[in-house]
Amino acid sequence: YYIGIDLGTSAVKLLLMEGNGKIVRVASREYPLYFPHPGWSQQNPEDWYKQSMDGLCELLDGIDKSQVAGISFGGQMHGLVVLDENDQVIRPAILWNDGRTFRENDYLNQVIGKEKLSEYTANISFTGFTAPKILWIKNNEPENFARIKKIMLPKDYLAYRLTGVHCTDVSDASGMLLFDVKNRCWSEEMCEICGVHKEQLAKVYESYETVGTLLPEIAQKLGLPETVKVAAGAGDNAAAAVGTGTVGNGQCNISLGTSGTIFISSDQFAVDKNNALHAFAHADGHYHLMGCMLSAASCNKWWMDEIIGTKDYGAEQTAITKLGENHVYFLPYLMGERSPHNDPDARGTFIGMTMDTSRADMTQAVLEGVAFALRDSFEIAKSLGIQIDRTKICGGGAKSLLWKKIIANVLNVKVDVPETEEGPGYGAAILAAVACSEYASVEEAAQKLLKVVDTVEPDAELAAKYEERYAQFKQIYPTVKELFG
Ligand code: XUL
Repeated sequence: YYIGIDLGTSAVKLLLMEGNGKIVRVASREYPLYFPHPGWSQQNPEDWYKQSMDGLCELLDGIDKSQVAGISFGGQMHGLVVLDENDQVIRPAILWNDGRTFRENDYLNQVIGKEKLSEYTANISFTGFTAPKILWIKNNEPENFARIKKIMLPKDYLAYRLTGVHCTDVSDASGMLLFDVKNRCWSEEMCEICGVHKEQLAKVYESYETVGTLLPEIAQKLGLPETVKVAAGAGDNAAAAVGTGTVGNGQCNISLGTSGTIFISSDQFAVDKNNALHAFAHADGHYHLMGCMLSAASCNKWWMDEIIGTKDYGAEQTAITKLGENHVYFLPYLMGERSPHNDPDARGTFIGMTMDTSRADMTQAVLEGVAFALRDSFEIAKSLGIQIDRTKICGGGAKSLLWKKIIANVLNVKVDVPETEEGPGYGAAILAAVACSEYASVEEAAQKLLKVVDTVEPDAELAAKYEERYAQFKQIYPTVKELFG
């Protein structure tokens, strides 16, 4: 068996896979997300560890544990975890969707300069990236900054607790803005700029490489053999790409989780000259480009849970009747926006309601707003000459057939639905299997294991209607942006 642990933002999702790719069982455990100020976003690493251990116990209950060979991870990216000399967490982790670092972000992009950042790391700074967070601690919590002995990313904290090895992988390291993506090593220049010493950083592995085995006390707690191998794993988007078979050249995956991403795999290293898309290392040993919106399925969750007050998302969606004809628009910027606006001050906005606007129209606008915002990143990829006529899809939002239909028509692409929407967890289990030589490479595993079970095709008439709607949507943010902040 192989275990994939997807350390997400709302929950940790665990998956047990047989060597032949069959999913035996899944489990999940939620943990709180704290917003101590508008636009700030934090979690307690101890919650990740506790809930992951509990989830592992559930996952393994009644299973022949001696047959477990490997574990790996997909993890929410960019989050900053800092440990002191006694390996204690110094302060809550600052997450990928936290916008507090706008000053540090401006300093990096304006004073150090985007050209230099792009030369050193293949990327410019975004508020959610890790390097501006390190500078924020330096500027705002100097006593904490002075105590930092280890800097790590969320899933790497979990790996550290399970193995005692301070490790990271190339895909997740790419999102720190401390990593020379092209050469797959730490950037001396960026470390210097951020006041980071190499000893504070983890050893970097390819995602499918083994970093160690379980610590004896962890093996004992879980009832697993101490020989279980732990592979480095990947950032959740790269893991999701593995889990949907988005490896090799020119493949596309959309992840509709708390964040929304468009991920394009590539054999060769390439940078978007405007750096609107991230240029990161992929978990398959190659590279990828990615656009990331900060609130995707979370917009629908917010609308359903907080505003409508229902848990039955499906029932709300059955009332939607005006595909392609909605006059209500929603800007999905509930946590500011990353791709393509790079604007932590952007905010969620409904516009266009009339007296006959119904709750269903507004629910529809939320789903469409997310699709239109994904299209913004999609347009950038197209402007780089990348042809995409089909995409895979995964994440909690991908459970909704209606949302997949909206996305297929707004993007005018075929949406291939993989057997499981558990993208990152499945990808993590595959990475563990590759580390244990069950498969020779990530590509081989993807080829053998990943099946498309359904394809949602765009409809020419509906896609044309959405083309007009998108043209409207595109004008809203530039018009209202001065009102934010
Ligand atoms: C990617 C990003 C998000 C998180 C979500 O750049 O910030 O997709 O990885 O977990």
